[in-house]
Amino acid sequence: MQRLPSHIAIIMDGNGRWAKEKGEDRLYGHLHGVESVRNIVEGAAELGIKYLTLYAFSTENWDRPQNEVSGLMELLVETIHNEVPTLNKNNIKLHVIGDIDMLPDAAKAELKDALNETAGNTGLHLIMALSYSSRWEITEAVKQIATEVKEGNLQPASITQKTVENYLATKDFPDPELMIRTSGEYRVSNFLLYQIAYTELYFTNTLWPDFRKENLYAAILDFQSRERRFGKTGEQVKDREATG
Ligand code: IPE
Ligand code: IPE
Ligand code: MG
Repeated sequence: MQRLPSHIAIIMDGNGRWAKEKGEDRLYGHLHGVESVRNIVEGAAELGIKYLTLYAFSTENWDRPQNEVSGLMELLVETIHNEVPTLNKNNIKLHVIGDIDMLPDAAKAELKDALNETAGNTGLHLIMALSYSSRWEITEAVKQIATEVKEGNLQPASITQKTVENYLATKDFPDPELMIRTSGEYRVSNFLLYQIAYTELYFTNTLWPDFRKENLYAAILDFQSRERRFGKTGEQVKDREATG
């Protein structure tokens, strides 16, 4: 509990394979994936984690078969609708990052309500990445910065890393200290590419519908065993720890 990450990001992968193993349709896997989301959100809130970012749908996922996309969107609308009371009960504030304009109207409306209804909560920040990809986000940031420069509000020479960060969808959140990917894939799939510069990565073979609090604790324990050097030497890091 002394060295908890304040921000954990999760690539929730493996729903389709989980369903296939059981001889079921991919959507059956997504349905069970929602159970894992509930369990992990609860687990993170209990631990006092401040930010939890969940990759639920990528901009590339729009290219999946039509029935899977529409099934996922229906599940999204239904889940958000059903979960708002629980979010409020647990003081959880919902945020969304991604190209929300791409979502069907029903999903947009449901999301808007959920964001409003949880806006006053002060506990865990739950950030859902929906229709999100990092290249989309960075491209949008570049467009906005270029517009500011063109309009004379910003001088190119005054652009710093902080400026860039201020135009990302994640401007209100710190970078994640820990990123988890389930299902045994060792890649980042266009998720938070700028923000994970110094994030500790944790990969597990567990498929997302099987992922529970215990798996989250295992990832956090692994994180706590790592030495984060940020480019410095191990000796420098130890000296700093020793002197506080
Ligand atoms: C993750 O599970 C959920 C989404 C990407 C929406 P997948 O649907 O990618 O499951 P696999 O990777 O095919 O098993
Ligand atoms: C990443 O999973 C996106 C989400 C978990 C929402 P994918 O299943 O889409 O990733 P790839 O295609 O295997 O890289
Ligand atoms: Mg996948």
